[in-house]
Amino acid sequence: MKKNKFVIVGAGSSYTPAIVAVLLARRDDLKLQEIALYDIDADRVARTGRFCELYAREHAQGVQVSYTTEIETAFRGADFLFVQIRPGCNQQREQDEKIPLRHGILGQETCGLGGFSFALRCIPAILEIVGKAQEICPDAWILNYSNPEAMISEAIYRTYPHAKALCICDMPISQEETIADFLGIPHKDLTFKYFGLNHFGWFTNIYDKEGRDLLPALRERVLSDPSVRLVNAEAEEKHDNYWGEMYAHAIEGFRAYPEFFPLVYLSYYYFHNEMVAHMDPGYTRANYVLDVREKVVFDDCERCIAAGTTKDSALHAGVHGNYIVDIANAIINNTHERFIINTMNRGAIGNFNHDAVVEVPCYVSAGGIEPVSVGYIPQFHKSLMEAQKGYEKLAVEAALTGSYQKALQAVLLNRTVPSYAVGKAVLDELMEANQGYWPALK
Ligand code: G6P
Ligand code: MN
Repeated sequence: MKKNKFVIVGAGSSYTPAIVAVLLARRDDLKLQEIALYDIDADRVARTGRFCELYAREHAQGVQVSYTTEIETAFRGADFLFVQIRPGCNQQREQDEKIPLRHGILGQETCGLGGFSFALRCIPAILEIVGKAQEICPDAWILNYSNPEAMISEAIYRTYPHAKALCICDMPISQEETIADFLGIPHKDLTFKYFGLNHFGWFTNIYDKEGRDLLPALRERVLSDPSVRLVNAEAEEKHDNYWGEMYAHAIEGFRAYPEFFPLVYLSYYYFHNEMVAHMDPGYTRANYVLDVREKVVFDDCERCIAAGTTKDSALHAGVHGNYIVDIANAIINNTHERFIINTMNRGAIGNFNHDAVVEVPCYVSAGGIEPVSVGYIPQFHKSLMEAQKGYEKLAVEAALTGSYQKALQAVLLNRTVPSYAVGKAVLDELMEANQGYWPALK
């Protein structure tokens, strides 16, 4: 029987222990033989790597886990690459968030100009990784999780149209599960219809097993009851109030534009000024991630390494890990399951640019994906998406060509930018803060 080698690229991340734990727990389904953890940062990958080696020894005898900074060693013989890189780590994310906020506009890792800044760091690194994979392991499936996925996916699919790459995000599925909990129906018994761009999409229908659409009833409840709350189970468990607030804003967004249920990230555009007013330019999400999540995970890794056992560690759960593994499982076992994925449109949204990456439901099997045709979309959503897509495509152009002009055009198309002066000032400050990370813009 063919056995599989999985590689995690960017394995120094705090998400790695949970992903490895899910892979190991499902080793039989995945026909798992080996996991290689790869990162350019030797210290970070040694920490998660030694933890995962220990964890595998204690929980999954026979599966080989190793870590390395050598890309050749990691990629040789690979069947799946899970790519989750963050060039500049959360320290650069902090700059992406704080610089725009100082100018009164959204500072966030994927939306607004923070996302633009992250894209310019991440695109060159991702293209190098995908290029290497085409040389070393051209048959491997590349499942990319790296952000900002909207622009990363445009760059990958455009540069390597024949690569076996799928660009995914856990937000739609996490939101589906949250809505399923709210409705009191198992997620597996519901079929969600959805369209949009990454971190910029809408649920249009929620079908139950009998084929009834539950979205109208959900709309009625939200519109008639101001106390309606969506609770994200994972965030609650982690006492991470950020997602609770994001869901509250999504409900507001649904009330404001009740046609479709918005992805939580749309609140940054629907309610830009109100969201910015509540953000602290002195302490952003990156600070929380550095001070809390990374600290908890890395401290626990070090504690377990020192103790020589992972027995009382809690680093092993999370939708984040499950979802990417579910997609690999669908490919390996040819399950034809449905997932929301970023893919070239090619008519999936009938009245949207065919040559643009969109986020739509797709059936996943051993042969790859079959996108679902979601038909024609309304003018309002189409127009929002067109402006956003123009911004995304120009940002990718700027990253690929090093053109300052394209970068400025991208920035000025972003909905969060109120004027030329603000857009240019933020762009120039971000450029300064990203020397050595961004391509030089001329
Ligand atoms: C969701 C999004 C990811 C994003 C993450 C950020 O899962 O889909 O794209 O990276 O949230 O979470 P954080 O806790 O780092 O702010
Ligand atoms: Mn995402």
